[in-house]
Amino acid sequence: MGHKGFCVAGLVCCFAFFLLTLHYAYGDVIYSFPEEMKRGSVIGNIAKDLGLEASRLSARKARIDTERNRKRYCDINLSTGDLIVADRIDREALCGEKVSCLLRFELVLENPLELHRISLKIQDINDNAPIFPKDIIKLEITESAVKGARFLLIEAHDADIGQHGVQSYTLERNEHFVLAVQSSADGGKYGELVLDRELDREEKHELKLLLTAMDGGTLQRSGTVVIHVTVLDANDNAPVFSQAVYKAPLIENSPLDTVVVTVSATDADEGVNGEVTYEFSRISDTARHMFALSQKTGDVKIIGPIDFEEESVYEMRIEAKDGYGLTSNAKVIIDVTDINDNTPEIYLKSLTNPIPENVSPGTEVGIINVQDRDSENNGQGRCSIQQNVPFKLVPSIKNYYSLVTTGELDRELVSDYNITITATDEGSPPLSSYKTIQLSVADINDNPPVFMEQSYSAQMTENNKSGSSVCSVTARDPDWRQNGTVIYSLLPW
Ligand SMILES: *[C@@H]1O[C@H](CO)[C@@H](O)[C@H](O)[C@H]1NC(C)=O
Ligand SMILES: *[C@@H]1O[C@H](CO)[C@@H](O)[C@H](O)[C@H]1NC(C)=O
Repeated sequence: MGHKGFCVAGLVCCFAFFLLTLHYAYGDVIYSFPEEMKRGSVIGNIAKDLGLEASRLSARKARIDTERNRKRYCDINLSTGDLIVADRIDREALCGEKVSCLLRFELVLENPLELHRISLKIQDINDNAPIFPKDIIKLEITESAVKGARFLLIEAHDADIGQHGVQSYTLERNEHFVLAVQSSADGGKYGELVLDRELDREEKHELKLLLTAMDGGTLQRSGTVVIHVTVLDANDNAPVFSQAVYKAPLIENSPLDTVVVTVSATDADEGVNGEVTYEFSRISDTARHMFALSQKTGDVKIIGPIDFEEESVYEMRIEAKDGYGLTSNAKVIIDVTDINDNTPEIYLKSLTNPIPENVSPGTEVGIINVQDRDSENNGQGRCSIQQNVPFKLVPSIKNYYSLVTTGELDRELVSDYNITITATDEGSPPLSSYKTIQLSVADINDNPPVFMEQSYSAQMTENNKSGSSVCSVTARDPDWRQNGTVIYSLLPW
């Protein structure tokens, strides 16, 4: 939980730990529901599920907090305690090919500060159809190819997962080919054209066949591609990649033009049949703006800013093609490593301002939250305030801190405090940020007026006119405005 570094004294540690277990003991909640639900749909009643009083949610400033300023996809209805959909939830955009799509939020309550973790498990619906990366598959097959010869076809891709992904293919009926469907190592399915009746270039020098990919949703969706077969009278070998999967580490913020990985395929043929060129056969739109592939050398180069916080893994497929259009595929996985490039950010989540001067020591006057977009140590924060003020920060749940008073306040001595909060992460070198909070102390009528003298004596001559001054008295009161305004009156002796 990252509390280790925050504690100064053993006592504080125990306290923080106790708080933590106490609050988490309320339990976290997981809601599982399908993507693309309408805004305003009820996901569940969070108040009921956590055993909270719905009527107190408003008073306790219940709210949904996201980590690292990410978008908030759900909201809480403060009068009913219902958790509702607040924004479009598109599983494919959020989680891509991940089998499990979890969004995490926190429910924050104040008085006392309480934190609950809410996980939303987004189920896939069949809202995407299979798509082939190209409109046309060009194959060049020699007339000498024997019955049973196999020709690899590019895989169709479906942004949905599992049963909603590509499940089968069908080939338009024809005289020469049948289809064999294979499973690839990464779980995808692809087709192979199998020669069933031999070709004769003199009889037919080209064929067009329709290939259909289907997914396994209840409302099945499909995508098609045309296979254009040219019959040749030479023989040929397909290029072969040196690895089926290329894995490459990449440090974020690496300069443009850095070569991340080089793929290489060799082709046993000579001349134009053995000249291999490379291109991306499947790549996400984000990755397309980050990486470029050299057609000739197979170098994958950086062309955009690599930000770990935006994307930590990129996956793409590369196709190698020889001069006669025979192809093969390899997968490239680029793993981005984090560097400490984000300063911690300090958020003031709540503040009592001004504070009455008569509050007792230990009163919570503010709640502070520190967030750092980096991961692990680079994102672990330590938070402190300056020494010479009667306030301290008490680590609370996770990256929350309470600002509490440590002594009596006296407006007549100090009426304003500027409290500087410093947050520092544990990266090397560490990054820090500061925030200054202005706190005023509100007056309480706690000082009686005090006369400048204990007694006043005056001498006067007889026969003086009425209305002439005998002597003047002064009393002072250091309180504020009305509380410090002195009114004089004579009391009968
Ligand atoms: C606090 O900061 C403000 C603005 O910088 C300044 O005007 C004020 O005098 C400061 N107050 C104290 C008590 O230092
Ligand atoms: C005077 O003191 C009272 C409490 O004793 C407080 O409620 C009030 O706000 C104070 N007035 C001013 C002007 O600060």
